[in-house]
Amino acid sequence: MGYEIKLLENGPILVKGPLRFVDSTGKEQLIERDWIALCRCGGSQNKPFCDGTHRKVNFVGAEVKFYTP
Ligand code: FES
Repeated sequence: MGYEIKLLENGPILVKGPLRFVDSTGKEQLIERDWIALCRCGGSQNKPFCDGTHRKVNFVGAEVKFYTP
């Protein structure tokens, strides 16, 4: 299975799921969504996930895409 990551223009980092998420305490959680949105503006109240705050803070960031070969 390949990996795909997209940095949306002025928005979050999308990672193609499903993914296994491990938090700072070592607790694991399987996230079975097709896409997971991670905050890159720093403003989310639900880090590491995006909660839409990037729109309120007018976050500016270029679109970038990464794919496995
Ligand atoms: S990128 Fe969406 S809340 Fe930070």
